[in-house]
Amino acid sequence: MSAIRAEPAAGPVALRPMRDSDLDAVMAIEQRAYPFPWTRGIFRDCLKAGYPAWVLTEHQLVIGYGILSVAADEAHILNVCVSPERQGRGHGRYLLRALVNSARDLRAGRVFLEVRPSNLGAICLYHSEGFNEIGRRPRYYPARDGREDALVMAIELFFDEMA
Ligand SMILES: CC(C)(COP(=O)(O)OP(=O)(O)OC[C@H]1O[C@@H](n2cnc3c(N)ncnc32)[C@H](O)[C@@H]1OP(=O)(O)O)[C@@H](O)C(=O)NCCC(=O)NCCS
Repeated sequence: MSAIRAEPAAGPVALRPMRDSDLDAVMAIEQRAYPFPWTRGIFRDCLKAGYPAWVLTEHQLVIGYGILSVAADEAHILNVCVSPERQGRGHGRYLLRALVNSARDLRAGRVFLEVRPSNLGAICLYHSEGFNEIGRRPRYYPARDGREDALVMAIELFFDEMA
């Protein structure tokens, strides 16, 4: 993977492809950021499958990451996450834009994601970046008291035919 288009990084914040050697740092964030975190095996499988995966670093330390899968002309954001103590500073929006730009570069026409209806901050972010709710997957996520539905959100990508 080469560099991708995103907003210019402010200061020492940078985006680069995720590597196996990032997985200790990624797992440390994942386990603090989610009540039901992914396992290391899931991240390893994503890397093995060659999914576009990025880490956001600050002073070369991983502070966030995002993973995408692209099949035919549809992309799926599988994970987007910022370290809890670095949230609320625009890093999530930066990562999301980078993932959408990555999908566009891979000629996807649409990007999907799932989100818990209780994750209001993430939903707000997705709406503000142009994602719309297109459906619901009943009982998709594990939850403390059983299961929680997923909202399915999507954004259509348009191409400049002259480009
Ligand atoms: C969702 C997540 C990636 C957002 O990252 P972030 O760096 O905190 O978000 P940003 O600072 O870029 O905020 C972008 C927008 O998100 C929304 N937002 C973020 N946190 C919010 C909160 N707690 N309440 C309401 N809106 C919030 C706002 O619209 C904000 O825009 P604004 O600052 O212009 O108001 C981050 O909170 C996270 O990693 N959460 C845990 C993992 C997770 O739930 N991932 C999403 C799975 S679907």
